[in-house]
Amino acid sequence: MKIISSPLELKNYLKNYNCSVGFVPTMGALHEGHISLIKKAKEQNDLVIVSIFLNPTQFLKDEDLDKYPKKDEADKKLCQLSGVDVLFFPHVDDIYAEDEVSVLAPKVRGYVLEGSSRPGHFNGVLTVVIKLLNIVNPTRAYFGKKDAQQLNLISLMVKQFFMSVEIVAVDTVREKDGLALSSRNAYLTPSQREEALKIASSLRNATVMVTRGVLDAKEIISGMREILSPLHIFYVEILNRDFNQLAHIEIGNTIILVEVKVGTTRLLDNIWL
Ligand code: PAJ
Repeated sequence: MKIISSPLELKNYLKNYNCSVGFVPTMGALHEGHISLIKKAKEQNDLVIVSIFLNPTQFLKDEDLDKYPKKDEADKKLCQLSGVDVLFFPHVDDIYAEDEVSVLAPKVRGYVLEGSSRPGHFNGVLTVVIKLLNIVNPTRAYFGKKDAQQLNLISLMVKQFFMSVEIVAVDTVREKDGLALSSRNAYLTPSQREEALKIASSLRNATVMVTRGVLDAKEIISGMREILSPLHIFYVEILNRDFNQLAHIEIGNTIILVEVKVGTTRLLDNIWL
């Protein structure tokens, strides 16, 4: 596995290849969720590139960027074991300049759900993703369905900026007890982790209601809120795949999204029906 930190060096290195390239952008602290993206990229491409870059611009001023888990050596090993061809590991100065051009998330879709309590977060995500995509110039780029709003906004950016990369959505990987894998789970104490299971159980309950024929969004949301209580709920929403609100579940076109705070940790999850 080749490790490259300079964007120009990576661009030059890739000039030697005339093959399909799969790209998996991450912020490190890799877990099985990230690995499933890498596996998918390996299945579908000749060359696989992973980036590890803890992107400062997607953290708000009051959010603790310094506390984000860092596992550089373990991450390198995991990438190597997963068959990654190139690990792109840039430094902040390799990616950002003092006086920056940046991408603005759409005024509505970028400021609902996670964007409502983290205003500006998606500007940072879209800016770093467009930079990374331009450096790697991949055939396909892989993103998790777990971060459904991020996935939706990146797909929108790629379409609206007439970019030619194919965005591939990958299913959420969970622990046996249902908790969606997240680098942020490392912040949870054992009792908070127990509390966090309410998220998966609220989504499971929603699925059971739907299979029993309950399609009314309000009814499903109120069932979920009951299960999630007394956690601090940022939102529970039922949307279609274009992120418009639904009054009734449409099978094949629905995402049920939830974000809560457990202790001081924000956790989000969703199911696609
Ligand atoms: P990060 O949180 O490291 O996640 C990297 C990718 O892994 C994202 O596409 C995310 O949706 C996916 N992922 C995380 N947990 C997952 C799980 N349990 N199952 C499947 N996929 C999962 O998301 C980011 O980094 C950043 O915002 C980034 C896109 C890299 C831009 O900085």
